[in-house]
Amino acid sequence: MTEKPILELKDVYTYFYTESGIVEALDGVSFDVMKGEPVGVVGESGCGKTVTAHSTLRILPKNGKTVSGDIIYKGVNLLDLPDLQMRKIRGKEIAMIFQDPMTSLNPIFKISDQMTEVIALHRRCSKKEALEIAIESLDQVGISEAETRITDYPHQFSGGMRQRILIARALALQPSLLIADEPTTALDVTIQAQVLGIIKDMQQKLGLGMMLITHNLGVVAEITKRVHIFYGGRVVESGYTEDIFVNPKHPYTYALFESIPSLEADKTRLMTIPGNVPRLINPPKGCRFHPRCKYATEICSRMRPPEHKFGRGRRVACHHFEELDLHVGKEAILDRAAVKEEV
Ligand SMILES: Nc1ncnc2c1ncn2[C@@H]1O[C@H](COP(=O)(O)OP(=O)(O)OP(=O)(O)O)[C@@H](O)[C@H]1O
Ligand code: SF4
Ligand SMILES: [Mg+2]
Repeated sequence: MTEKPILELKDVYTYFYTESGIVEALDGVSFDVMKGEPVGVVGESGCGKTVTAHSTLRILPKNGKTVSGDIIYKGVNLLDLPDLQMRKIRGKEIAMIFQDPMTSLNPIFKISDQMTEVIALHRRCSKKEALEIAIESLDQVGISEAETRITDYPHQFSGGMRQRILIARALALQPSLLIADEPTTALDVTIQAQVLGIIKDMQQKLGLGMMLITHNLGVVAEITKRVHIFYGGRVVESGYTEDIFVNPKHPYTYALFESIPSLEADKTRLMTIPGNVPRLINPPKGCRFHPRCKYATEICSRMRPPEHKFGRGRRVACHHFEELDLHVGKEAILDRAAVKEEV
């Protein structure tokens, strides 16, 4: 891995315009992904993870718009690119895997049709060569008898197999960056571990930059090198996964770790932090976490916390981070995280 960002978001604001008002979904988001580096994007539901991915690929719904900031991919600001060039980047350069594999596959076409056309287009090869590439990549993600199964339809595969097919299709295009948005949430727990294992292997084998969006801190610990913690449309803490796990500095990060169920019997429980995630129409002033933060003081409800930078690329947006000592041992977290040994 060379120390060069392949993707850099700088102060990105994305809004949705609705009848009830403006949803400030991304409120000055900055982070980067290095070439060949697996990076995690973590946070509770509604904190802007998917909007970040969609802003990057410029696939926001009609009522959404990135109103300011830069999204630099390989030195080019994607927000300035003409549509035609952006279309070439999508898929070929930056691939995306979504949560629900069924929505990304067309039920009425064979897998071969859904793979070869896009491969032939992006890799500029014949249909015959594209078919060979498709079979090889299906084989790589563990679809047995890929040569015959490629003529099947999506419904003839299980959810886990369909997600493998989508991974194969994404990787057959030889992208430099993979954005995986909760790629296993819709799958059974045992299948989740297998699919995550494949994503991890492929990322390493192909030296892909990766933005892995997930709720699951166990997955983050196993797969990512750095992590960006989101809250209420902002990045509240960033750094090396290891550093953050050993010594979280932001009260929200700490609360996330604390919310991992500790008992074996509780492992299916979803993580919860007391209070509700903020609505992003008229969000809380100052620090968006203040209504739920046990360390909040008067300044927190009034002033947006500045970002403190220290250590090896660590960033923390909290007024009181220097006074707080929020220690959590990595082992303790891994112990409590749901997918410990399975990934
Ligand atoms: N089309 C839309 N119109 C209005 N608001 C939207 C739209 N899409 C997303 N939002 C809002 O943007 C915010 C961020 O949503 P986003 O989908 O990025 O959350 P997320 O972090 O991906 O959550 P999850 O973990 O549930 O997938 C939420 O408040 C959401 O309600
Ligand atoms: S700025 Fe204040 S409210 Fe926000 S996380 Fe820090 S202590 Fe809590
Ligand atoms: Mg999402």
